[in-house]
Amino acid sequence: MTRPRSDQRKFHRFAAALSAGLGLMLLSGCSLAEVFSLSGHQSTVHVDGPVAQSQQNLFMVTVYVCTFIFIVVGAVLAYAQIKFRARSEADEHAAPPPEGHGNPFVEIGLIAASVFLLVIIAIPTLRSIWYTHDVPEEELKNGPALEVTTTGYQWWFKFEYPSEMVKLPNNAGEAPLTTGNELIIPAGLPVRVQLRTVDVIHSFWIPKLAGKVDMIPNRPNFIWFKADKPGYFFGQCAEYCGESHAIMRFRIIALSPRDYTLWLENQKQSARTVTAAALVAEAETPRVQFASLKMSAGEALSASPAFDADPLGAWREMQKPEAGEDPALIATGRKLFSEKTCISCHTTRGHEGVGITGPELTHVGARSSIAAGVLENTRERMHAWIKDPNHFKPGNKMFNGGYTDVETGKYKFQLNDQEIDALVAYLHSLK
Ligand code: CUA
Repeated sequence: MTRPRSDQRKFHRFAAALSAGLGLMLLSGCSLAEVFSLSGHQSTVHVDGPVAQSQQNLFMVTVYVCTFIFIVVGAVLAYAQIKFRARSEADEHAAPPPEGHGNPFVEIGLIAASVFLLVIIAIPTLRSIWYTHDVPEEELKNGPALEVTTTGYQWWFKFEYPSEMVKLPNNAGEAPLTTGNELIIPAGLPVRVQLRTVDVIHSFWIPKLAGKVDMIPNRPNFIWFKADKPGYFFGQCAEYCGESHAIMRFRIIALSPRDYTLWLENQKQSARTVTAAALVAEAETPRVQFASLKMSAGEALSASPAFDADPLGAWREMQKPEAGEDPALIATGRKLFSEKTCISCHTTRGHEGVGITGPELTHVGARSSIAAGVLENTRERMHAWIKDPNHFKPGNKMFNGGYTDVETGKYKFQLNDQEIDALVAYLHSLK
């Protein structure tokens, strides 16, 4: 009489595992609709570019072949189990039938069928490897691919545009245009990304566009991809690289070629300086406040509904100066940015910042996310981030409740809320 009970136990265990799995998916922010349609920001099933499409096609071929094998093997197994089951007490104790040495025809047939199925998978695999290896000729008809260099840092991504040189202030020469964590590309054109790292191995992955290729110390690697149309894409480091690996994210924003040119022009400008006079001059252009969300600990990592509904639209809003900019507060923030030594790690081209340890911030106010894609770039969240970066990204190299003095090991600088507000006003003015 133990059998039903053990079956019951098995069923309960299965049900518990299933509901735990579903619960985890819900906790991780996936809606049930997303789970079953396999959609969502980082879907590899609903893709938006030819490289991801070729990878998805290959995946589907493998799924079809494996499903076919599963059905055939399962059917033969079920047939044998039902047809040759023990029907009586005598059957159960009967001697096993004599062992055969197989049927050469069946054996050779099965080997041939297996080889045939492997070839079915191998052909598209080789084609896909060929296709994703480098930008194919037909993609280069309208001109060369956009070359970008990205460098992985614990835990953020630096993007450089070697073909877009910008003049450095004080006749200090030129340097490639640099951004952090958000890569802006023209839609419909191929992009070839050189992959580098300054510390450990990271991996570059934009599920809807292409992936994934490792960023390995001292070993140049690259990846190419194309976004079919303008859009906002979520990327992720896909190689365990330390305590904040899971929140080492980035964004790809694909714009129409015209918008892309406009964006480039603005990015090449030095850091924006806000004065009362400058505001009056800018008053002609419409200014829209980016939809923000009150922060609470639980929802810290999720974006506002307005952002989720239209990430690209939200990004566009970020390009415009905020309503109610206060030149005096911004000037205070700029001063603090120097005094509190932010400048030694971050570049604000044209202003005081010259550091390269942290992300380039010349146009940080125009980005839709901060902290390598972890937080939406609202005033509230930037405030929370500056106040306690280690709360959001454990182990990062920024301010940790105060800057530690190397010599004494004690905190040398602190920031109070008013100072942080000024810093946020300054950083958000950098459009
Ligand atoms: Cu970088 Cu994981």
